[in-house]
Amino acid sequence: MTWMITGGAGYIGSHVVRAMTAAGEPVVVLDDLSTGSADRLPAGVPLEKGTVLDRDFLDRVLREHAVTGIVHIAAKKQVAESVAKPLLYYRQNVEGMRALLDAAVAAGVRRLVFSSSAAVYGTPDTDLVTERTPCAPINPYGETKLAGEWMAAAVGRAHGMATASLRYFNVAGAVAPELADDGAYNLVPMVFERLTAGRAPLVFGDDYPTPDGTCVRDYIHVEDVASAHVAAARRLMADPGTELVLNVGRGEGVSVREMIAVIQEVSGLKDPAPETGPRRPGDSARAVASVDLIHRELGWTARHGVREMVESAWRGWALRHPA
Ligand code: WQD
Repeated sequence: MTWMITGGAGYIGSHVVRAMTAAGEPVVVLDDLSTGSADRLPAGVPLEKGTVLDRDFLDRVLREHAVTGIVHIAAKKQVAESVAKPLLYYRQNVEGMRALLDAAVAAGVRRLVFSSSAAVYGTPDTDLVTERTPCAPINPYGETKLAGEWMAAAVGRAHGMATASLRYFNVAGAVAPELADDGAYNLVPMVFERLTAGRAPLVFGDDYPTPDGTCVRDYIHVEDVASAHVAAARRLMADPGTELVLNVGRGEGVSVREMIAVIQEVSGLKDPAPETGPRRPGDSARAVASVDLIHRELGWTARHGVREMVESAWRGWALRHPA
């Protein structure tokens, strides 16, 4: 049984590769290296460089590596970019998924773990978001992830493929400094960037209906996200009739102000104090996962807390930005 991990050379993908390998599952990585890097892969893991949009390439990789399961992580993932370039997102994420599933069906692959996102919910603003909370994405990125979930479920039913879509909440941290996220598009790296430049962390709005007025999110360590993939893969191997959609979070809300306080503490960069700017369009006051379903279905729970996420992310930032 070999698992093909698309996007395995990226931030989340490389953590999934390590977790699957440590769990004894043979893997092959498919990545176009547009944002990923071969340096992220452990020695001995085969890398096939190319895109999920290339059908001949997919057919060859699936055949040559005798792939029997796929973890599909390769995708574009920046919300703002998806608003500016929706067709790029529909091409990479929706057409990419369609091409991958077409090749997978032809090759007789019977298991799929799909990388989805809390972005499918849009602005849920409920206490805990369950998998039954209505999906109402508010940007093309979230739309393409929801379309991907629909495709996975429909293809699974029509062609006897076991599927699990994992809706990640706010992923942070790293298992090793060299595996840290190298972009600065989310709260933790954006605050590092400003603090190391001597600037005040910026809070996008403090007039939300939350305890301290700043947005509340469910931050989850990337190592926990990776272990959720292993648990999902095991379930698909054991039960060919699986069709799951699961939140991946800790079920605990942390505000922007609380997160910035941890970052300033961990980095030792206690000045300047945070400044408040205007709200960022499209942000919901609160997005915290209910994690009952994933616990019940996979026996999975997150193990790492916010401080470990920030400490490990900070080691990664320091490695890439030596003082
Ligand atoms: C978190 C909170 C900001 C930076 C996005 C996508 C989601 C998923 C994860 C993809 C918000 C606030 C941020 C800053 C701030 N993406 N903030 N100052 O928006 O919850 O989720 O990333 O794969 O789909 O929507 O994450 O990290 O951008 O922001 O105050 O300098 O931090 O307003 O409340 P978000 P984020």
